[in-house]
Amino acid sequence: MRRPFSLFFFTFFLLLSIFIYNINHHKSKMVKSAVLGYPRIGVGRATKKAIESYWAGNSTAEELESVAKAVRKERWESIKNAGVDFIPSGEFTLYDHLLDHSYNFGVIPQRYVEQKLSGLDTYFAMGRGKQDRAKGIDVVASEMGKFFDSNYHIVKVDHSPDTEFKLLNNQWLNEYKEAKALGIETRPVLFGPITYLSLVRKARDAPADFEPIQLLDKLIPVYKEVLASLKEAGAEYVQLDEPILSLDKAESFGAEFKKVYEALAPVAPKITITSAYGRVGKSIDYLKELPIHALHLDLDREPKQLDSVLEAIKDTKIDIELGLISGRNIWKNDLNASKALAQKAIDVLGADRVVVSTSSSLLHTPISIKVEKKLTEQQLSWLSFAEEKCEEVAALAHALNGQETALFEQNTKDIAARREFERTSDSAVRDRVAGITEEMLSRKAPFPERRAAQKKHLNLPKFPTTTIGSFPQTKEIRQARAKFGKGELTAEQYEKAMEAEIQHAVDFQEKTGLDLFVHGEPERNDMVQYFGEQLTGFIFTQLGWVQSYGSRYVRPPIVVSDVSRPAPMTVRWSAYAQSLTKKPMKGMLTGPVTILNWSFPRADVSKEVQSKQLALALRDEVVDLANAGIKAIQVDEPAIREGLPLRKSDWDSYLKWAVDSFRLSTSGVENDIQVHSHFCYSDFGDIFPSIQALDADVISIEASKADLKLLDVFKSYGYSNEIGPGVYDIHSPRVPSEQEIKDRIAAMAKVLPADLMVVNPDCGLKTRGWKETEESLTNLVAAARWAREQYA
Ligand SMILES: *[C@@H]1O[C@H](CO)[C@@H](O)[C@H](O)[C@H]1NC(C)=O
Ligand SMILES: *[C@@H]1O[C@H](CO)[C@@H](O)[C@H](O)[C@H]1NC(C)=O
Ligand SMILES: *[C@@H]1O[C@H](CO)[C@@H](O)[C@H](O)[C@H]1NC(C)=O
Repeated sequence: MRRPFSLFFFTFFLLLSIFIYNINHHKSKMVKSAVLGYPRIGVGRATKKAIESYWAGNSTAEELESVAKAVRKERWESIKNAGVDFIPSGEFTLYDHLLDHSYNFGVIPQRYVEQKLSGLDTYFAMGRGKQDRAKGIDVVASEMGKFFDSNYHIVKVDHSPDTEFKLLNNQWLNEYKEAKALGIETRPVLFGPITYLSLVRKARDAPADFEPIQLLDKLIPVYKEVLASLKEAGAEYVQLDEPILSLDKAESFGAEFKKVYEALAPVAPKITITSAYGRVGKSIDYLKELPIHALHLDLDREPKQLDSVLEAIKDTKIDIELGLISGRNIWKNDLNASKALAQKAIDVLGADRVVVSTSSSLLHTPISIKVEKKLTEQQLSWLSFAEEKCEEVAALAHALNGQETALFEQNTKDIAARREFERTSDSAVRDRVAGITEEMLSRKAPFPERRAAQKKHLNLPKFPTTTIGSFPQTKEIRQARAKFGKGELTAEQYEKAMEAEIQHAVDFQEKTGLDLFVHGEPERNDMVQYFGEQLTGFIFTQLGWVQSYGSRYVRPPIVVSDVSRPAPMTVRWSAYAQSLTKKPMKGMLTGPVTILNWSFPRADVSKEVQSKQLALALRDEVVDLANAGIKAIQVDEPAIREGLPLRKSDWDSYLKWAVDSFRLSTSGVENDIQVHSHFCYSDFGDIFPSIQALDADVISIEASKADLKLLDVFKSYGYSNEIGPGVYDIHSPRVPSEQEIKDRIAAMAKVLPADLMVVNPDCGLKTRGWKETEESLTNLVAAARWAREQYA
């Protein structure tokens, strides 16, 4: 009798303990998924339209808020429906999320307070300025700055030693509750205090030794207030973005991080620090000591950092959040590969200490591929925008928890098909890149010899005058292009319209007396898209909008395969322009680094390879232009500086391929072809040797706005090719007098050798009107004539 009884109990307890073990096991040993942030634009560009309608006075603040509320709901639901565990809140914005922090913290510089605007209008005035002469309102915007190495721009509000922080608007609590009321539990997102103070601007009138980071002690209480309110409202987790960790300078911020997080941790929900846009580097030494719940890593950009970080945190209480799904590109993630990387972390820490996530906020990606009607099935199978990335994050977590979903299986198939496509795309182009020789990277002779040949070939006077490329893009030009796009103009009619514009530009230059002509670029919609559309290897979305700043969105082309040039791209227009005049015509091209930088690059081959493929296509174009009788060719690389990596130790390898790409594209021609390049900035500082290494025959730079001191840099480095520092600022409609331009030339001639100087405005004239352009260039030509006598 006893045995069955005890057996019964034994079995019962055994089953019970397995049951309990399973519950606990399931609860704790599960990999979770997270998304750091989401696009703000709204399906159908709802947010953008509502904001612009409000600005135009077409709708009320209430109407704008109701659209914003609907968009926030749509975003949360979309992320939730994808199956993501940690859903962000508080990172939605009507203009910029850094600006939101300043405004919410009550940092409103006096010049905005004085306008006596409503709260919302004060906020927008801080972002974009406001002018309403009738009401006596006139206030400039805060400074805008690039957000790490993305194309998103933040609004940097002025901070000074007497800046005070006072919680004006608890956006994070409001949105947390708003989501909760919809039945959605979220993880609120704020910039961490260190990144906040590192990104805002130091007021112009602040003392020289002041830096905003000195305000840390004053700022901490506001963060405590926000975080405590979130905890009180039931938030279990909070995400504090500290992307400053991707920079070298953060390595010396150990004391600040310690101070901040020791103060915040006791009152806050569980803190995850995110470190998007690069690697944490040596900062891990102090990060591992912080009283935080988890550390997020950007493993899309920097997968190699995983091992050392795991080693550093394995004996701490810090969990890891693996930023595997790229927030920066538009490619489908290789989930199988991500799974293997995540497994490494699980092996070291255990599944309960691992979260899989996006590498950054998804704000840098368009919303969804589902609305793209013009892409083929095959092309769509390669891509993943925000909505699809959320599904990937969730599928990855499921797979790590032992449930491979249909999405995961499909992903494996799609990735394999994409790899096969990549392998077979265009071997001729690859062979050509592999066959690039040192010789192809250099002009045939050094500059002095080329210069002599060019003097004969172009026959330009001393102090030659020229412009940067574009002439005013009038309403007529834009209308013709729009009509052609809609099929209301035939190709022939469109070409005739463009030829008429070119004729006008040539006549204008004859009349004004310029020396080196341009065709004026009426046919170009955009300096990158124009080329992308004519090259193989690019695709274009219809609705792939990505935020650049405020309500401004761009639609970057996507490089999907090996790039080549099926036919000449600009020769037809330049040759036509040259046929109208005896003066030399300058051909105009956008350089390889810039075309690539302003597009979504491929993820399967390096940017270096893609840039060289583009360079080879442009090299052929340069040669064809020369063969068509064009004697000077300008190749613009405004993005060389813009594309600099965040960490200095990565600069050299980048600059090497960037410079090589430019040289590759311009070195296929004879010595007598004059190669120009233009830089629409003047802050060359530490990249000067690379500018010199481009070995362009002529460079033009935006010197007019900046101090002439910059020219000293050229002198001190011994720059010896020709140079055209802008002699007037085209960014304002103001017409410079002849005397002003003479004075500038005279000032420049004190620093630069007169016989190397070219006289030009500081940028293209696309945004100007014809009238002011004519008056300004007439004065420019007169001043150059004066200089020829003065410095004969
Ligand atoms: C505002 O309304 C006017 C008149 O209806 C319209 O022409 C304009 O396009 C609207 N602007 C915006 C930004 O909604
Ligand atoms: C070019 O690249 C840099 C660095 O990656 C980035 O900051 C910049 O915004 C890019 N420009 C565009 C137009 O995307
Ligand atoms: C998936 O990843 C594993 C481990 O890295 C690898 O062995 C396997 O070949 C991959 N499978 C596919 C289909 O790519």
